[in-house]
Amino acid sequence: MKEYLNEYKGKNILITGGAGCIGSNLTKALIVAKAAEIIVLDDLSAAERWNIPVDPSVVFIEGSILDDEVLKRAFSGKLDFVFHLAAHFANQNSVDNPETDLEVNGLGTLKVLGYSHLTKVGKFVFAKKLGDLIGGVKVKRDEVFPKRQGRLAAIDRTSRRGEDELAHLGEMRIS
Ligand SMILES: NC(=O)c1ccc[n+]([C@@H]2O[C@H](COP(=O)([O-])OP(=O)(O)OC[C@H]3O[C@@H](n4cnc5c(N)ncnc54)[C@H](O)[C@@H]3O)[C@@H](O)[C@H]2O)c1
Repeated sequence: MKEYLNEYKGKNILITGGAGCIGSNLTKALIVAKAAEIIVLDDLSAAERWNIPVDPSVVFIEGSILDDEVLKRAFSGKLDFVFHLAAHFANQNSVDNPETDLEVNGLGTLKVLGYSHLTKVGKFVFAKKLGDLIGGVKVKRDEVFPKRQGRLAAIDRTSRRGEDELAHLGEMRIS
């Protein structure tokens, strides 16, 4: 087992958007790491149920991060880690559905942060940009989106809202 996975052994972990591309692979890695409980929270708006790995440690909650009843269930136990991956994702999706984008990525992130703060989650992990997901390689935003203008620039500001919210929650360990 890779050494860094030891950090997750015996831990209780929530993955929002856990049925998605990154979330389902993360779930597999956390099963290998022998996490105690892995709660996958996903509304299946952009993923299939069969994508969620089956294991006794995995608990699936179907629902939206915008729904307080769903969030209360997900945060009912003591959590060591929250990986926040639920998102209205892909640029064309954002252009076609700007209100959903703002709700899920803005309000949804704020809600997940709020519950994490209230329940004193040990560590909150938010994959906000490409560079966070490719092993520490530095990628400048302008190299990824060289011609950010108009609506794309607005989307970029929306995703930055999550970063600003994170900056105000200094008590939690955030990466
Ligand atoms: N995949 C990449 O290359 C990449 C690059 C940069 C950043 N990211 C970020 O990583 C995160 C996850 O990306 P991914 O590739 O796994 O995306 P994905 O679309 O595969 O997964 C997102 C998941 O969120 C779920 N979801 C959407 N709205 C929801 C809601 N309201 N409540 C609960 N669940 C909801 C979807 O059903 C889906 O399973 C996103 O924030 C994305 O912006 C990904």
